Amino acid sequence: MTRPWWRNAVIYEIYVRSFADSDGDGVGDLSGIRSRLPYLRALGVDGTWLTPFYPSPGADHGYDVSDYVDVDPRLGTLEDFDVLVADAHALGLRVVIDIVPNHTSSEHAWFRNALSDPQHADRARYVFRPGRDGGPPNNWTSAFGGPAWTLDQASGKYYLHFFAPEQPDLDWHNETVQADFERILRFWLDRGVDGFRIDVAQALFKARDLHDMQVPEPRPPFGDWLTALQQPELHPLYRRWRQIADGYPGGRVYVAEIVLEDQVALAQYVRPDELQLAFNFTFLHEQWNAEALRGRIRETLDAFGGVGAPASWVLENHDVTRLPTRYGGGEEGRRRAKAAALLLLALPGAVFLYAGQELGLEEVELPDECREDPIFFRTNGEQAGRDGCRVPIPWSGGPPAFGFTTGTPWLPMPHAWVELTVAAQEHHSSSSLAFHRTAFALRRESEALREGMFSWRESPPGTLLFERSDGGATVLCAVNVDGDPLELPAGDVLLASEEVGSLLPPGAAAWTRI
Ligand code: GLC
Repeated sequence: MTRPWWRNAVIYEIYVRSFADSDGDGVGDLSGIRSRLPYLRALGVDGTWLTPFYPSPGADHGYDVSDYVDVDPRLGTLEDFDVLVADAHALGLRVVIDIVPNHTSSEHAWFRNALSDPQHADRARYVFRPGRDGGPPNNWTSAFGGPAWTLDQASGKYYLHFFAPEQPDLDWHNETVQADFERILRFWLDRGVDGFRIDVAQALFKARDLHDMQVPEPRPPFGDWLTALQQPELHPLYRRWRQIADGYPGGRVYVAEIVLEDQVALAQYVRPDELQLAFNFTFLHEQWNAEALRGRIRETLDAFGGVGAPASWVLENHDVTRLPTRYGGGEEGRRRAKAAALLLLALPGAVFLYAGQELGLEEVELPDECREDPIFFRTNGEQAGRDGCRVPIPWSGGPPAFGFTTGTPWLPMPHAWVELTVAAQEHHSSSSLAFHRTAFALRRESEALREGMFSWRESPPGTLLFERSDGGATVLCAVNVDGDPLELPAGDVLLASEEVGSLLPPGAAAWTRI
């Protein structure tokens, strides 16, 4: 039996607003993506994950959905979507789409009905509760800052929103909600999607007692402390979702966004009859530190291996600061990010990359007046938010639009990106783009890198050394994180993150075949 495609796939995340604009309104769209599919094909990834493109008022740029079975008119039509999927499949590319089941937009017909009449059946789809001691029903805070409850003046009750007030949480204990989402999944599966990325997949059910939760200070990037989430009801739900996907040909996949530090708890969601993949966020949030990275890799492989599931590695997405910036910025950050790419692509399991990562883009410092992320506004500017990693992709030429749009890009693009456009990098053998293409090609061609057994080798402090071996060939991945110059093991160097001799300096990595 052939192994399912998703077990070691390389998936390229497209933040739809920021990839390519076909109609000059400054916002990326589906036809823009379609026109760039040959780029993805040449890049050598297996497929793409598209962030939400459904009709949305845009309070959280698409993560506030007002209709789950249509396309936002600013981004295209259902027909555009169908052609995009058909073209992608013709090029051998998979298409995974984002599903946002935890909350709707406050403009969704269900929520409008719920507000307009407390007796309306749609009211039961949401979490409305009376207040406590003149305030909200409990102490929950929104992930975007401020309280997680907003008062509905008309009824005097509060409604729950773990994110912005424009994103009311659905009540997943309501069976109509469950049935609706099964219908929504089928709608897109019927249209040929290869899978779903499930937004905040651990949040759907809330503990029925809505108990107060102790918020750790400072608020960590992981959600393990959110005891009213991660409810046991999720597992039968995801088993049902899996059965639905398995009813379709071609291996339809789910990848869960579950931001937990405890990998054993996380792995419960990818047991054989549940979801297939779950992002590993401990690796993403880790410092550039060899021992810490080794620990994260080990924990993940142990926990996921324990349930027979592949790990899903990721270092960038549309919610976090670009990697070169997180790794210290400047020349040092850029070098480390390239070394990390070799680490990422040599680990066993699926890999997710974020558009622009292959170009080596850094976080953009934006003037406050350009910011759009609700996090910036809900924290009164205390947190800058996520716009800096969402600046559109520079394709060619120069400012203001770098070939992204014929209009004005929705976020300003830095002048320095002249050197970093796809066109500028395409023909430079030493560019970040060329480096990533080579890495993807090597991974595709190498059974050992994709499917081989993983084993650690001993290496000096500050370095990571492991091999992937399929019995015939063995590929070694050596990463000098922050150690002394590392003697490269004997063998043919397949690819290095920079020009190296026999010694790998700190901040560099190499693959060798032995
Ligand atoms: C997820 C998304 C993020 C969004 C949030 C609310 O974390 O990745 O962009 O803001 O869910 O839907």
